[in-house]
Amino acid sequence: MKIIIEKDYDGLSKKTAEIIKEEINRKPNLILGLATGSTPVGTYEELIKMHKEENLDFSKVTTFNLDEYIGLSPEHPNSYHIYMEENLFNHINIEKENTHVPNGEAEDIEEYCKNYDKGIEELGGIDLQILGIGENGHIAFNEPAEELTLGTHVTGLTESTINANSRFFDSIEEVPKTAITMGLGSIMKAKKIILLASGKNKAQVIKELLKEEYTTTSIPATMLLLHPDVTVILDEEAASKHNE
Ligand code: F6R
Repeated sequence: MKIIIEKDYDGLSKKTAEIIKEEINRKPNLILGLATGSTPVGTYEELIKMHKEENLDFSKVTTFNLDEYIGLSPEHPNSYHIYMEENLFNHINIEKENTHVPNGEAEDIEEYCKNYDKGIEELGGIDLQILGIGENGHIAFNEPAEELTLGTHVTGLTESTINANSRFFDSIEEVPKTAITMGLGSIMKAKKIILLASGKNKAQVIKELLKEEYTTTSIPATMLLLHPDVTVILDEEAASKHNE
């Protein structure tokens, strides 16, 4: 695992956007796996800046998002569809049909999940996957559990995740309790993975991960220790318990 520690959130965002830019310049038809949540917002802002100021070209890029709440329509203000449009897609020259966010209102949801993975495979797999991490070690919505599902699937959210995500909703009751998420297998098939963590509240889980001593399904992110090309990008706060 390669570890990069930046001074602050701004540095983390700039560094991550730089790496994404290099990958797009290397392969203009990059297949890019994207996350939502607070952590990548700054990275997306930097990418928008690079598009506007340096002509970073997304016209051939394809994206697949990790997850979406079940029951929220793509037009719902808290859906990850809207998040992606507002934070990135509306501000760059990506083709809408090349962007994929799971459909939380799919009718035959199991079939839909299978097809989501198939869609990724048909394009040759994800070249670069961006991940955040939950305080409980979840990646995408793969929550701590005895078993971790490999493919894209429907999952329940833990209380800790519902609490953490309630900051985006008017009340905690409005936070959906289930989601579609890419599974650990789908994520591990990505050729290159970048995991981002910012802030003190991530320091404990990052400390566990960076011990690089064990993998456990009770901290799903530790599964990444089995992947050959993972870069963890942290700010100083998230790294503060590492090497303690
Ligand atoms: C979002 C996702 C989640 C978040 C995680 C951290 O698509 O997959 O796993 O990355 O919950 O969220 P933030 O960045 O808000 O702390």
